[in-house]
Amino acid sequence: MSVNWALPFEEKIFPKDKSNLIDVKTYIELHRKTVDNFKEFWARVAKELPWFKLWDQVLDDSNPPFYRWFKGAEINASYVCLDKHISTWRKNKIAFIWEGEPVDAKGMPKEIKKYTYHDLYKEVNRISYMLKTKFNLKKGDTVGIYLPMIIELPMFMLALARLGVIFTMVFAGFSSDSLASRLEDANAKMLITADGFWRNGKIVQLKNIADEALNKVSNVKDVIVLKRLGSNVTMKNGRDYNFDDLMNDIPANVYVEPVRVRSEEPLYILYTSGTTGKPKGQVQGVGGYLVLLHATMKWAFDIRDEDVYWCTADIGWVTGHSYTVFGPLMEGATIMMYEGALTYPDPSRWSAIIERYGINILYTSPTAIRGFMKFPKEIFKKYDMSSVRLMQSVGEPINPEAFRWMYDVVGRNEIHFGSTWWMTETGGLLSGHFPGLYTVPMKPGTNGMPLFGADLEVVDENGNPQVPEQRGYLVIRKPWPGLSLTIWGDPDRFIQVYFSKFKHYYFWTGDYAVRDRDGYFWILGRADEVIKVAGHRLGTYELESALIQHPAVAEAAVVGVPDEIKGEVPVAFVTLKQGYTANEKLANELNNWIREKVGPIATLKNVLFVSKLPKTRSAKIMRRVVQAVAVNKPIGDITTLEDETSIEEVKKAYLEFQAELAKRSDPKNSN
Ligand code: PRX
Repeated sequence: MSVNWALPFEEKIFPKDKSNLIDVKTYIELHRKTVDNFKEFWARVAKELPWFKLWDQVLDDSNPPFYRWFKGAEINASYVCLDKHISTWRKNKIAFIWEGEPVDAKGMPKEIKKYTYHDLYKEVNRISYMLKTKFNLKKGDTVGIYLPMIIELPMFMLALARLGVIFTMVFAGFSSDSLASRLEDANAKMLITADGFWRNGKIVQLKNIADEALNKVSNVKDVIVLKRLGSNVTMKNGRDYNFDDLMNDIPANVYVEPVRVRSEEPLYILYTSGTTGKPKGQVQGVGGYLVLLHATMKWAFDIRDEDVYWCTADIGWVTGHSYTVFGPLMEGATIMMYEGALTYPDPSRWSAIIERYGINILYTSPTAIRGFMKFPKEIFKKYDMSSVRLMQSVGEPINPEAFRWMYDVVGRNEIHFGSTWWMTETGGLLSGHFPGLYTVPMKPGTNGMPLFGADLEVVDENGNPQVPEQRGYLVIRKPWPGLSLTIWGDPDRFIQVYFSKFKHYYFWTGDYAVRDRDGYFWILGRADEVIKVAGHRLGTYELESALIQHPAVAEAAVVGVPDEIKGEVPVAFVTLKQGYTANEKLANELNNWIREKVGPIATLKNVLFVSKLPKTRSAKIMRRVVQAVAVNKPIGDITTLEDETSIEEVKKAYLEFQAELAKRSDPKNSN
């Protein structure tokens, strides 16, 4: 089928008829047009949003790579997500269905809460009012959020956005050190946290961890504590405030005027790991971000008013920011939000949720799917999941087994199921299959096609387009709305990390990719020293820095090795300082150390002690060589290696580790 498609970009970028399957060649042609005229194209999309004031300039690209979209325009994310709807029939539509983790004796959830758009609007206004009148928060301030998946989390994000306050959310699974460094870097004046929460049937004492972090930073003056568990936690006088007490005297119907925020001003800062140094605070500008979310909610998720939509990611990560909170709310969707582990109290909890609420659109990760796959299909299939009409995956490449399993168990081998590629830095998804747009035939496991208006390319070392079927580097050649504004407090690093590897200010993603002969993109994984553990991004450098802070450790090299469920997991090779003995006790101690310093997601698969690590003559550890040994790949060029026997050392340690693993999994050795 061919589509008669001409510029300028009118109706056809939000087609009414959603059965617009086109061949790949036509898609690529259409895509080219959107990229060649990308400013005009994005301006067309942006016109759909309720701006307070339209832009003077679609894109200010006078100071690359600090691109500013919709310069001069004014908007407010809370207005776009709430006020816009409550003047329409959606006022009484359910915005959030929230389910807590604990279950009763029959396995039924003990707590289910539903909030209409009007409920949410009222609560957000009340919280904004409280923050404004009691703490004098104002536009440009920064505030930290360290909350679990409770409904007050999106409420606070919206309440802060309403005031133009920049928030920085720290995933509730992060350690006190990780929290402290983020609060300090962002110069947060307030922290919003909770007493604790449920995870996998156990209580996590969040306030204790927050207190440890607060002892290390001086900039946080006020702390608001929500009582998820209703437990008694230590409250520091003059610093800590009980949320319920603060809200007691706030009237039910207060209204806080949404602050007019300039499109190019920050909505949030979100920290993410890189190859060197401490996590980078990505600064997301409000206008471009909302434009990208609007487009992708329609194109990738084909969101419709009758849908119940569920993104299983924690809001602490970018996927939850964009596709549990801002994206679906701005489209007026009904959103499922679940507090706990998808497999608690039994592996089929997530299937029960799909059945209970008749979920129509599901956004999840390969790691979650691989976790389900350990169990027989029957335990999931007994639930009615026929409501699901569209699935997307995110976070890491999806392996064929995981794809097939999910396509069968939930997808009935017929519905749409794609893999959307993107990053914290991109704000929203930029590649995938787009059932709400003109879409191409599904090709399982691929990342489909670049989004309209996004100039993704696979290039060689020199930045020239790579030939099809050959591995190359994934770059983005033109700016797009949603591109991070900068790294908070460190613009030079922003240039250095993303815009210096390739010429012409191509954005370097850090990923390897292939474009196949049909034109589909396959993202293969990271080309740098970042690993993806259960879809979460960890810089090996970060883990090494934590390890060498331990008194016993002289040097450390951390590499990722394949893992059946989590995709990849870190293994540490460590040399010890004199006077310390390598033994299991120390290995466990180092693992606990890492968990303390970074968080449980950084748990090492093992700590391997070696007497030396491969190094260059200039004494840099050759992590590439360690990695090659650990995954049993050719070692490659070692001309700069100082001492070849170090490779044997690493090999020996790794072989012993493999033998140990084999011994552990041999049934003869279990009792
Ligand atoms: O390596 C790519 C991988 O996740 C990285 C970005 O991680 P983060 O900023 O944590 O954002 C994750 C969620 C958007 C990318 O550089 N990645 C993400 N989605 C995919 C993917 N790899 C393959 N396929 C995907 N669909």
